[in-house]
Amino acid sequence: SQSNLVNIVEVGPRDGLQNEKSTISVDTKVDLIDRLASAGLRYVEVGSFVSPKWVPQMAGTADVVCRLPRHPNTHYAVLTPNTRGLADLLSILHTPSPDSHDTPPPPISEVAIFTAASDAFSQANTNCTVLESLQRLESVAREAQDNKLRVRGYVSVVDTCPYSGRTDPGKVREVAKALVEMGCYEVSLGDTVGTGTPGTTRAMLEEVGKDVPVEKLAGHFHDTYGTAIANVFEALSFGIRTIDAAVGGLGGCPYSPGATGNVATEDVIYALQGSAYGVQGGAKWQDVAEIGGWISDTLSRQSTSRVGRAYAAR
Ligand code: HMG
Ligand code: MG
Repeated sequence: SQSNLVNIVEVGPRDGLQNEKSTISVDTKVDLIDRLASAGLRYVEVGSFVSPKWVPQMAGTADVVCRLPRHPNTHYAVLTPNTRGLADLLSILHTPSPDSHDTPPPPISEVAIFTAASDAFSQANTNCTVLESLQRLESVAREAQDNKLRVRGYVSVVDTCPYSGRTDPGKVREVAKALVEMGCYEVSLGDTVGTGTPGTTRAMLEEVGKDVPVEKLAGHFHDTYGTAIANVFEALSFGIRTIDAAVGGLGGCPYSPGATGNVATEDVIYALQGSAYGVQGGAKWQDVAEIGGWISDTLSRQSTSRVGRAYAAR
């Protein structure tokens, strides 16, 4: 029987911050990651080794990785779109620290690779078709595993594509299956544009579930149309136990104009109270809401988390 504990993948420092216009210091990023891990979040995506011409905000990821706070119960991951990004990560992990022979390498145990369910989005996001990206990612996945890094996969635009409209769930199924076959232990299904409803989400999950066991699936919902929490519960009732979320509802994808941030972590944890589900690691919504308030103030933006705003106004 399946556990009723929900694993939260905190993507705020990556999916959240990648879309911010103003430069965010490495200090602020490291502080955010430290606060999230201290609050009991067990998995934090800390940045991306992508081209700084494509996503300028992630340019400091190497420095963030070198300064990651050690929290024994929290795993850290970074996005690596190609072998160049992976090589940049590996060179940091394999370079001994200059000050001490005893210092272990930075605590990165995992990389995430990403592709999409439409060619138009894949072109806009990574400058290649879906098929080309799968070929490119196969070498990234192999090399990461050879270096004892776990690999997580992402499929974007699982509900609609900002350029080509509604997505065929059969395409999502095909791409998710390919990611599992190249060694991804889990595939996160991204509703990048945030158009999904519980109905369209269920139909997509049923199709993908024909080829990928539910234990290997995660839900990644953006809240553009206000349906993200509803979709989270639909995914849980389907049997998914891993949900991506961003503190303060940060973010949006640079290649999805108008799409808002991820479902807020504090909103997910709040909504799970009194349900059949618990949160792996036991992070409290109040603590996460505090962090959401702090990072929103620091970035001079409004938190989009309903729970965060209610908590701040109490
Ligand atoms: P390209 O331009 O086709 O790459 O970009 P290229 O191989 O032709 O290289 C062009 C230049 O980039 C070269 O430099 C390379 O050295 C450099 P130049 O000679 O011009 O000075 N370069 C790199 N630099 C640093 N790190 C690298 C790297 N690779 C090449 N890894 C590429 C192809 C994939 C690199 C580019 O399109 C890219 O970086 N895309 C990333 C886009 C991105 O990060 N999007 C956001 C993440 S995905 C997302 O948010 C969705 C998700 O949240 C789920 C959901 O909601 O759907 C996951
Ligand atoms: Mg996203």
